[in-house]
Amino acid sequence: MEVFRWIEQQLTPQPCSTDVLIYDDMDSQSGYSLPIIYQPFDGTKESHWADRGSTYDFLDATGGENRTLLDFGPGDGWPSLLVAPFTRKVVGLDSSRKRVQVCRENARRLGITNAEFISYEAAAALPLPHDSFDGITAASSVEQAPDPRSILAEFHRILRPGGRLRICYEDLARYQEGRQQAMWISDLDQQTCKILLYDRDIPCEYVIQYAITLAMPRQELLERLGSRSPTFSHLTLSLLKQVEPMVVKTRRSRTIHPSGKTWAHWLKDLGFNQVMPTHSGKRAAIAMYRWFSDAKRPRNMADVDDTIRPAVRLAVNLECPLELNPHITAVK
Ligand SMILES: C[S@@+](CC[C@H](N)C(=O)[O-])C[C@H]1O[C@@H](n2cnc3c(N)ncnc32)[C@H](O)[C@@H]1O
Repeated sequence: MEVFRWIEQQLTPQPCSTDVLIYDDMDSQSGYSLPIIYQPFDGTKESHWADRGSTYDFLDATGGENRTLLDFGPGDGWPSLLVAPFTRKVVGLDSSRKRVQVCRENARRLGITNAEFISYEAAAALPLPHDSFDGITAASSVEQAPDPRSILAEFHRILRPGGRLRICYEDLARYQEGRQQAMWISDLDQQTCKILLYDRDIPCEYVIQYAITLAMPRQELLERLGSRSPTFSHLTLSLLKQVEPMVVKTRRSRTIHPSGKTWAHWLKDLGFNQVMPTHSGKRAAIAMYRWFSDAKRPRNMADVDDTIRPAVRLAVNLECPLELNPHITAVK
């Protein structure tokens, strides 16, 4: 692609890990959208049922209540802060210091005392002892690390024998023709914005992400792009040349995004005794939400939980074809 070639040659991006590229800059990694963590639970919303389904998915697939869990890459505290009330202890490990700070603040605000959040250097070994966790949750996070396979090896090391890993991930199959490239623009402060670009190689399972920081308000950049919600196709070489004098820094990160087949192959290869691709609790909860009429659908959280929990338990034990890039449970 012409645009990416120009960025490489002209802006000489500095290589970095994704925590530096994106997660350290975000006040909320979820845009403050998470039920319970940022919004009161609302049983009339499908997305809130889905979130409860995902929470019980991670809890049940890692062995249920009263365990010691590691949550790898918790972002705003998901799922750590939601599973914490059911567990003995949760440790959230994130290489982004900003994310750890946000998780700690969220735990404090929610009155959660059995969740601890710690940081480490992205490419280092995980700062946790051998055989120390009953379960590990990893939601859309391992593929953000510089070397996902080595993270799985670390998970195997720190799980106790019989311990369970539950992982969901961003596979690239979801990005169809025309969506291999993408652009997002965020404001860092009133005078500075950041262009995030994604160049996805779907068959080879990797993504190159660029972050171009500009000394320019977001609004001004949108005006130059000629759209309030621009897509990658709005970004032209002539626009990049125009804004080049305002570029403060350019960073680049290469991330590997394995498909379900690749994850399963790695997990077996690393010595996990069972590797089970399964259906998800989220989908089970959504199906139940849709099954009820608006008038009959339970609304308060305890009733929703009672309603979905048996279906979630079933889903996380029901095999799903790897071709669909499903959630995976791996047992040491
Ligand atoms: C897409 S977010 C997912 C957050 C959360 N689990 C969720 O599902 O909402 C990815 C998270 O992984 C973290 N991350 C990126 N690289 C990491 C690494 N090497 N080790 C641990 N966490 C990492 C990011 O800082 C971020 O919090």
